[in-house]
Amino acid sequence: MDNDLHDITLKVNGTAYNARVESRLLLSDFLRHDLALAGTHVGCEHGVCGACTVLLDGEPVRSCLMLAVQANQHAISTIEGLTGPSGDYHPLQQAMHDHHGLQCGYCTPGILMTMTAFLDENASPSEDEVREALSGNLCRCTGYQNIVDAVMTAAARMRG
Ligand code: FES
Ligand code: FES
Repeated sequence: MDNDLHDITLKVNGTAYNARVESRLLLSDFLRHDLALAGTHVGCEHGVCGACTVLLDGEPVRSCLMLAVQANQHAISTIEGLTGPSGDYHPLQQAMHDHHGLQCGYCTPGILMTMTAFLDENASPSEDEVREALSGNLCRCTGYQNIVDAVMTAAARMRG
């Protein structure tokens, strides 16, 4: 049905895209299937697990709870954009690697995007603040301690 289609323009990781999408298409499915950015993971599809977290104009959002049309005229950041142009890891990625902050890795993209926005707002967090900021992202594997250690290390490195 043509009248269910919408033209959208958005930036994803700094690249501009024009697309025609159905009104019911979720942002998570648009990113994964239409743009082939499968680093954004889909777990619960109910806004609970945080695996699908991306940044919308710098703010973390659940991409499984948003429609692609709602991203029209906005800037999205996904895990694929976290690595620098030369392939260097973001300090959060490097610290997760250094502290063994992941096992299966399913939660990791959502956690890294959530923590990117968090450290933008709070460059010197306490461990309790990191744990609170992580509370919306479920990890089945790690027990969180290594993730917390990684975020604390990344914060220190980013402060220089
Ligand atoms: S897949 Fe979106 S919050 Fe779980
Ligand atoms: S590392 Fe497996 S869910 Fe977090």
